Amino acid sequence: MSDGFAARYGPWALVTGASSGIGRAFAHRLAARGLNVVLAARRAERLEALAAELAATCGVLACPVPVDLCRDDFLDVIRAATDGLDIGLLVNSAGYSLTGPFLDADPDEMLRLFNVNGRAPLLLTRAFGPAMRARRRGGIVMVSSVVAFVGTPQWSLYAATKAFDLLLGEGLAAELRADGVDVLTLAPGTTRTEFLDAAGLSDRLSLSAERVVDDALGQLGRSDIVVPGWFYRGGTLAMRLLPRSVNRAVFGRFLAAMRTEE
Ligand SMILES: NC(=O)c1ccc[n+]([C@@H]2O[C@H](COP(=O)([O-])OP(=O)(O)OC[C@H]3O[C@@H](n4cnc5c(N)ncnc54)[C@H](OP(=O)(O)O)[C@@H]3O)[C@@H](O)[C@H]2O)c1
Repeated sequence: MSDGFAARYGPWALVTGASSGIGRAFAHRLAARGLNVVLAARRAERLEALAAELAATCGVLACPVPVDLCRDDFLDVIRAATDGLDIGLLVNSAGYSLTGPFLDADPDEMLRLFNVNGRAPLLLTRAFGPAMRARRRGGIVMVSSVVAFVGTPQWSLYAATKAFDLLLGEGLAAELRADGVDVLTLAPGTTRTEFLDAAGLSDRLSLSAERVVDDALGQLGRSDIVVPGWFYRGGTLAMRLLPRSVNRAVFGRFLAAMRTEE
């Protein structure tokens, strides 16, 4: 497809979390629009299968990069795999949640969550942003969440990491606009991916990963923050009018009602 998308955000996209869900849907959509893709996540077999599929169906180059974003040295692995590649679009999609009382969680597991949801997007953006700025074109997508808009009981750490992503993305959108780099923060509500099973959440009110990604790509270069779906978009707009204490209580109850197990 020659709609200027590949010229603006190509020739390569780096997608984290590409083995599943929203990241995988990004990889599909970007390859369909003519971008070569670097696919990063831990599950190597899935990445290899996806790379082969995208190369065969979309005629693009696809490079699987098995990597654990928790690790201190994850960036070395990605730098080595992308050496010489012109990354015009970075999609920070890898992430997961921890549910339950903050004070009972394992501190090491909490730091792993922080590394994947916060440290990794921070370092990847710092690593690949300068070349985009120098070329005066490119894009960065931060995958945050609707929980980023308010502290959420039983999900305090996860919500805090997503708030970090949201504020980092929002600030960078303004900071890099004059440099020709589009930064979009995607804040989905519940989306039908493996994330929901892992978090023990119902898929009621959820959107497909493809729909979420289509909304995001439709807004890249147009908006700074996108909340897919009228229900969640309306909810986050209403939150602006209400006291934070009310938002916290409503969100906490909403998530408790969405829990499939107790
Ligand atoms: N689904 C929802 O309802 C929802 C709502 C709001 C926001 N989000 C956000 O959307 C993003 C994508 O989630 P999803 O819904 O697509 O969930 P998903 O289907 O579970 O995908 C998560 C991805 O993150 C990767 N990942 C997890 N830990 C990793 C690690 N240590 N190193 C490298 N990669 C890792 C996983 O790959 P491997 O397991 O192969 O490593 C997988 O590709 C996340 O940031 C999540 O917070 C999701």
